[in-house]
Amino acid sequence: MKVDVLIIGGGAAGLMCAMVAGYRGRSVLVVDHANKVGKKILMSGGGRCNFTNLGVTPAQYLCTNPHFAKSALARYTPYDFIALVEKHRIAYHEKELGQLFCDDSSKQILRMLLDECAAAGVRIETSCGVERVRRDEEGFAVKTARGEVHADSLVIASGGLSIPSMGASGFGYELARLFGHAVLPTRAGLVPLTLSGKHQEHYQDLAGVALPQVEARVGKQGFRAGMLFTHRGISGPSILQISSYWQPGDDLRIDLSPDTDVGDWLIAQRAERPAAELKNVLADLLPKRLAQRLCERWLGNRPMRQWQEHELRGLGQQLHDWPITASGTEGYRTAEVTLGGVDTDGISSSTMQSKLVPGLFFIGEVVDVTGWLGGYNFQWAWASGQAAGEVV
Ligand code: FDA
Repeated sequence: MKVDVLIIGGGAAGLMCAMVAGYRGRSVLVVDHANKVGKKILMSGGGRCNFTNLGVTPAQYLCTNPHFAKSALARYTPYDFIALVEKHRIAYHEKELGQLFCDDSSKQILRMLLDECAAAGVRIETSCGVERVRRDEEGFAVKTARGEVHADSLVIASGGLSIPSMGASGFGYELARLFGHAVLPTRAGLVPLTLSGKHQEHYQDLAGVALPQVEARVGKQGFRAGMLFTHRGISGPSILQISSYWQPGDDLRIDLSPDTDVGDWLIAQRAERPAAELKNVLADLLPKRLAQRLCERWLGNRPMRQWQEHELRGLGQQLHDWPITASGTEGYRTAEVTLGGVDTDGISSSTMQSKLVPGLFFIGEVVDVTGWLGGYNFQWAWASGQAAGEVV
């Protein structure tokens, strides 16, 4: 079979690229080894797909070259995607911090992309793996489970390694290497952190305890949002966000009460209830079980009147700078994204085309561009898919 454009991977980026190229009159085939396309779209945002973020800027992306994502993000903005969502009459709302979600279901986003692909004449083959890819005189010859496909342009949209049970594979990285591209080391991002040793011992039975607002920090990077204790460690939005910046051995600090000056607050509490024990006072500021545990294992526990002012200020400092030693992450099994990937040095930032192999494109998560939590990763998938779709 001969097509103009063969796209490997029918996820967010692949479907967007297919639609744009199809509308340009290109014959487009999308192959996906999974039995359904867009599985991550379906499971995203707790089933409501956080499909973009109104505050997207390149600063919310991790990439070895911080300038790489600028061009594509500027040319396809959240408002372009919102226009598409509105054209399909999909109801949506802003949850917080510019994060846009469907009111009903992420199925609507996938349906929208599939309807657009159908209207653009795109052909999609599922349960169709790729066995071999080689360059030929006209472009690319790709041996798929349904036979050999010849294509002028080959787009790699096979995503990263997160959630292998959803069809994730290292295919894109292997293919990139095969064609001479550098692939930067990959690791799980937007992922819960695990604790071990005494930290795990001290806190594991707090699983389920949640704090609505903490600030998790690694070096100069910090995120204010909720935190949750799990059976294996810590999670919640602040931890998922900081996990993309954390590497084993890094110093992780958590401000357990970023909106209150805890030292001042404790001094005021001492005046109000001098006989109360610290753990009971702190239970007004933090979840009760956590307050008790911190007092048992770390801070100590005495009636308020027995603490000197400088000691209460010291306690405040400790709670604003809780040193918790993470031992690792939960890995690709639960990670929302994969950090690292195909080195952007070898890719054009305006078209996503390989600088080494004309006609070869890399889009979406397979590229070394990873967004924060909050709709940024889909926006990168749409924007990079659009950039390639315009030129394939
Ligand atoms: P994606 O992974 O979507 O698609 C890759 C496709 O390639 C898959 O269909 C796969 O089957 C196929 N494939 C892989 N190997 C292949 C091979 N060898 N041959 C053929 N096909 C192959 N982001 C966000 O912005 N908002 C959100 O709400 C969420 N929520 C979310 C929840 C969960 C649980 C996860 C795991 C992730 C998110 N994300 C997210 C991240 C977001 O899903 C992700 O960044 C994009 O789906 C990436 O799009 P891609 O198209 O690049 O890869």
